Parts: sequence; structure tokens; C-alpha cells
Amino acid sequence: MLYPLNTRYWEESFSADEQQSATLALEEGKVIFLPELAFQLKGYEKPLLTPAILGKKYKNVSFNPNTQEMKGVADKKNERQVLMLMDRFFAQSYAFVEALMPHYKGKLIKGRTSYRPVEVAGRKTSILKDDTRLHVDAFVATPNQGKRILRVFCNINPFDQSRLWHLGEPFEEVVAQFSKDLRRPIFGSRLLLRLLGITKSYRSLYDHYMLMLHNEMKKNEEYQKNVRKEAIHFPANSTWIVMTDSVSHAALSGQFMLEQTFYLPVEAMLSPEHSPKFILQKVLVF
Ligand code: SIN
Ligand code: FE
Repeated sequence: MLYPLNTRYWEESFSADEQQSATLALEEGKVIFLPELAFQLKGYEKPLLTPAILGKKYKNVSFNPNTQEMKGVADKKNERQVLMLMDRFFAQSYAFVEALMPHYKGKLIKGRTSYRPVEVAGRKTSILKDDTRLHVDAFVATPNQGKRILRVFCNINPFDQSRLWHLGEPFEEVVAQFSKDLRRPIFGSRLLLRLLGITKSYRSLYDHYMLMLHNEMKKNEEYQKNVRKEAIHFPANSTWIVMTDSVSHAALSGQFMLEQTFYLPVEAMLSPEHSPKFILQKVLVF
């Protein structure tokens, strides 16, 4: 479900009412949709809009705003411009989220910025990496120990092509469908994953169950085919904000997008009872 806001500027300010209702809407699993909020590319940045920007084996450019490290750009001569663009998108998203949701001010943890120049439709991947299937986000290598995943997406397609998503059922219903498939981890397996460096930090039970949920959703053909879903076309030059760990979503088509990930401790939410951790703990002991 969309929560539209007709904001046009990244530096917009909001009334206390607007802030409170947008924050609650986001936490309840709505998608904050900003149809008029575009990310402005500078003239000299337009040539960066091509999949040829990517090095072999990369499907996106990844930037860490904490360290300014960047991966995925093929040609050294483009690196500085891509980095400047991504850092600008990070800074604008961060300022915007803090202005719209001041309850989170100082609590957001800065995650990766990504630039995705490849057409989504027809891309070949394994089932578990296939984001055209409905899923909630949970990362194999990056456990988050219960923190929320808050993402800002911006369609920067220069040919007026929208990005097509499916939105699935509410998180409670996803959990009700799959709780019977969420098995306990094999003894010692999570420690082993850590020791082998497969996970960047210890995979908590929360992370284990979220990853299982992500995998079980993607693997279940019946579910993918029959579950109630809504198609949303995010137009070129629009922005949307979603908590992707609780909102069931899939990206079906579209090309050229910027995305910024933030992590948010559950305690920093206005209504922590909407967190996946809280909802999972109603049916699982951990
Ligand atoms: C995803 O988070 O599943 C993919 C979103 C996108 O590429 O539009
Ligand atoms: Fe996802």
C-alpha cells in the first residue's frame, strides 16, 4: 500500500503531524511514495547511465558512505564521478529521512548506497537471488541482529521507463503462511559461518529465521503464483521509502536506480510492535 507525499525537494521541511503520520505509515508497512521527488543528475553525469559502467561480474555499484569505499566500476576514469553522485544521493536521502522522520534522528545506521544500471527483467540468477520473486529482505553475509532495514529508492531512468514492483501481503500473514517451515538452525552452524568469514558478524536466531523466511518465500512456486499481490509502477524520477524487511516485495522490471540502505534499532521505532522481531516472537521462541 502506498502512502503518497507530494514533496518536490530533498531539503523539504514537514509539520509535526506530517512527520508522525509518515513515520507510523512506514512502520505499519506502507511504502512512502514521492512521485515528484527526483534525483537531479548533472549534465556531465548523464553518460554514467549505462550498464557498461560496471566491471565484469558486477550487477550494481556499491558505495559505503562510512568509508567512501566503492566497488563495481569498470573504468578508473569514471570512478570519481560515480562516487560523487552516490555520495550526493546518500547525503540527500539521509537528510530527507531525518527531516521526514525526526523520531529516527541520530539513530539511523548508514548502510550501503547502490547504483543499479542493469535491466531487471530477464536477468538470470539463482532462485534465492531472484528479486523478481516476492520476498522480505534478509542478507546472507550481513546479519543485522534485529535492526530494521529502511531503504530509499529512486528511479533515475532517463528514458521515462518506470520500475515495476509487486507488493505482497502484510508481514503477519507472511509469517502465518511460513512459520511451520522456519526450522531451528543446525547446532554450531552459525558459529562456523562466522569463523569461515561467510557472515560479517554472528548470525543471530533472528537473522536465521528471517533468512529462512526470505528463502522459503522465494522457493515456494505455489505461493509466488497464488498469493495476493499488487503491481506498482514507480515512474521515472520518483522516489519511495520502504522497510524492506517487513514489506513483501519483488522487482519485475526497470533499469537505472539508486538505493540507499539504513539500519534502525527496533527501540528507535515509534511502534516497535510492528517490527519483524516482535511479530516473529509471537510464534517462535528466540
Ligand atoms: C529488492 O530489494 O528486492 C530489489 C529492488 C529493486 O531492484 O527495485
Ligand atoms: Fe528485496
